[in-house]
Amino acid sequence: MTDIPQSPEAVRAPTFVYRSVGKQTGRTLFCESLDLSKLAKEIGTPFYVYSAAMIRSRYQAFDTAFSQVPHLICYSVKANSSLSILRLLARERCGFDVVSGGELERVLHAERRSAKKVVFSGVGKTREELTAALKAGILLFNIESESELRVLGECARSLRKDARIAFRVNPDVAAETHPYISTGLHRHKFGVPIGVARALYAEAARSKHLRVAGVSVHIGSQITDVVPFGEAMERVADLVNQLRKDGHNIEYVDAGGGLGIPYQNDDSNEFADRLKGYAQALIKPLNELAVTLLLEPGRSIVGPAGALITSVIYKKTNNDKRFLIVDAAMNDLIRPALYNAHHQIIPVRIAAGAREIVDVVGPVCETGDFFARDCEIEAMNEGSLLAILDAGAYGMVLASNYNTRPRAPELLVSGKSKKLIRRRERISDLLRTEL
Ligand code: LLP
Repeated sequence: MTDIPQSPEAVRAPTFVYRSVGKQTGRTLFCESLDLSKLAKEIGTPFYVYSAAMIRSRYQAFDTAFSQVPHLICYSVKANSSLSILRLLARERCGFDVVSGGELERVLHAERRSAKKVVFSGVGKTREELTAALKAGILLFNIESESELRVLGECARSLRKDARIAFRVNPDVAAETHPYISTGLHRHKFGVPIGVARALYAEAARSKHLRVAGVSVHIGSQITDVVPFGEAMERVADLVNQLRKDGHNIEYVDAGGGLGIPYQNDDSNEFADRLKGYAQALIKPLNELAVTLLLEPGRSIVGPAGALITSVIYKKTNNDKRFLIVDAAMNDLIRPALYNAHHQIIPVRIAAGAREIVDVVGPVCETGDFFARDCEIEAMNEGSLLAILDAGAYGMVLASNYNTRPRAPELLVSGKSKKLIRRRERISDLLRTEL
C-alpha cells in the first residue's frame, strides 16, 4: 500500500487520502489507515466516519494559536455532540460550550469533571436547565436577557449556590455568512444590546447569589474573514474597561465561536496560519486587560474531520439531467437543503475514468433533498460509494427521522482501529416512543 497524492482539491490531508490497494487498479479513499470501501462493506451505508487524529490535531492547533494568553477552549457541543468525541476532547483538557440541559447531560456523561469547564449559552434557558447547571457547578452562565437574569437569581437563591455570570452582548457587528447563522446584529434575537449592558451588570451585582465574572459575545458561524471578530472584540474591550470602572470584577471574555472552514478545499496547510490571524484579531483589542479568554469553536475543530459515506442506489436521466440517487438524504445531512451549503463530494474509488455532470440527490420526497447540483464527478455505477466531505460539524446533530428514515451510524477511526460510536437506528427505535 503506498500513499499516492491525489488532486489537491479532493483530500483532507493527512486524514482523508487516496491510496493504492494491492493489485487493484485505481485508488481508494482512506480515513487514517482504514479503507473506507471495506468499512462500508462491514457496516453498510450511509454512515458517518470521523478521524480522532484530526479532531485532536485541530484542537491542539487552536490551543497553540492562543498560547500567549490565558485561555480555555470550550468546544461548542452543538457542532457534534457524540459522547465519544466529547470524551476525546475532554481528555485533551478541553472545556465545553452547551446550549441546553441535554448538551450539559452529555458533557457530564462523557466526563463528570468537565463540569467546571462548561459555559452555558442560549436565549431560552429554562428554570430546569439553569437549576441543573447550578447543581453541576459550571464555570459561567452567558445571560441573554433581563428576565433570564432574574430567573437565574431565583434558582441560585433556592439552591443557595452562587453562579458566575457574563452577559452575552450583541455588538451590532455585521459578518458575512448565511443569514440564518449570523447573530451579531441588533435585529437578531441574541444577546443584550451592548448599550444597555452597564445597567444590567449593575442589576446583576445587586443579586445575592450572582457573581459578575465576564463579558461574552458571539457574532455568528461560518465566518471566514477575521475582521468582524476583531471589531466585536474592540467593542467588548471598551465595555470591559467601563465595567471595571463601575467596580465589577471581569475575569473572563468569552469570544464565542464562528471561525469558518473552506468547504471548497483542504485547509490543512493553512489552518495554523488562519488560526494565527484569528488569534491576533481577538487578542489585540484585549491587550493589557488581563482577562482569561474563552473560545467556543465547533465547526473549525470537527468539520473537516468527518465525512458521510453513501452509496449510489440508482442512476437516472431525465431528459438532459443526470441524477445519482444515493442512500443518504437531507435527513442525514441537511446543510445543502437548509443553507444551500456546498459540500465537496468525491468517489471512494477512483480510476481516472470518464467524468459526468450530475445532481447527487437523496431518496426523500422533496426537491430540496440534494447534496450537489451540476457537479462534475467521475462516472459512477449503481452501488458505487461516495464521500461527502466536511460533514463532521452540523451533520449528525441535525439529522432527523423525516420519511421514517433511521439515522445513520457513526464510526470513530484512530489509526488502524475503529470504534462504532453510534449504531444504526432501527425502525423499532423510532416506534418506541409512540403510544
Ligand atoms: N457559540 C455560540 C453561542 C453559538 O451559537 C455557536 C454556533 C458556536 C459557539 C459555534 O460556532 P462554530 O464555531 O461552530 O461556527 N447549523 C449551522 C451552524 C449553526 C451555528 C449555531 N451556533 C450550519 O450547519 O452551518
